[in-house]
Amino acid sequence: MFKPSDFIKKAVEDIKERVGDGRAIIALSGGVDSSVASVLASKAIGDRLVAVFVDHGLLREGEVDYVKETFSDRLNLRFIDASDRFLEELRGVTDPEEKRRIIGRVFIEVFEEVAGEIGAEYLVQGTIAPDWIESEGKIKSHHNVTLPHGLVLKIVEPLRELYKDEVRILARELGLPDKIIKRQPFPGPGLAVRIIGEITPEKIRICRRANAIVEEEIIAAGLDEILWQYFAVLTDTMVTGVKGDIRDFGYLVVLRMVESIDAMTARVPELPWDIIRRISKRITAEIPEVTHVALSVSDKPPSTIEFA
Ligand code: XMP
Repeated sequence: MFKPSDFIKKAVEDIKERVGDGRAIIALSGGVDSSVASVLASKAIGDRLVAVFVDHGLLREGEVDYVKETFSDRLNLRFIDASDRFLEELRGVTDPEEKRRIIGRVFIEVFEEVAGEIGAEYLVQGTIAPDWIESEGKIKSHHNVTLPHGLVLKIVEPLRELYKDEVRILARELGLPDKIIKRQPFPGPGLAVRIIGEITPEKIRICRRANAIVEEEIIAAGLDEILWQYFAVLTDTMVTGVKGDIRDFGYLVVLRMVESIDAMTARVPELPWDIIRRISKRITAEIPEVTHVALSVSDKPPSTIEFA
């Protein structure tokens, strides 16, 4: 039986012993894993942990304020707005894997700069069991990472043996708000995997708003309790529409809502039609650039959860 208070006590002692008088850094994403790892490490070493939150310009609506409000009292938080840098690097890129590589590289560059500045020797990560089991268990428990400019950081992974449900129990025990505990997973590259084709400020704005509308309606209907993820994808398909008496030509947005246990497979459940219609109406009414909303009905496999 998993006892969260025992786990917390032991994890805090382990981190204290491991890091000693050193300094550590963690990339805080706002998701439950990195949030719990940050709070545990901060209990162990206090302000010698710097939690870095990087805004890559592809975050959800309200995310920056949300993270600041939730964590500024709990963590030594360093907020970095690198959105211009990311968007500049992504300009003209359409290939999804290339987008991921660029975002990963720039993220590490930004992170390394901060780690160097604060003299960090340790990197705390919110890795949980499925993360390394999926990568065939090749990552060893105590290993180092060498960042691109040669900075070597020792890895601390307090949640390594846990599964998501246990991390959620810990989050509750640590007094983190429900909003974090119940949050749907959000991919590291953010809205980049939900924007097909080139990423532009206009497309980010449209995709971000459409995602916010989906979240608002799904949460209002209580469907967040049964869905694993629920979001909107901005395609680069332009379709004809009509607004008033005037022919319009705008974007096609796809709604994607899936049930899953671990994201390895996923299923599209039957969803209440009135909610689908309400989301569709809101998106076309509130985002003038969108003329058409479609619903994805493909399971994983053969599809993936995200579109890119
Ligand atoms: P797919 O689309 O592969 O997604 O079925 C499975 C789960 O992983 C998330 N996802 C990512 N998370 N970086 C991440 O941190 C990524 O590049 C990435 N791609 C997909 C996705 O949201 C889903 O929960």
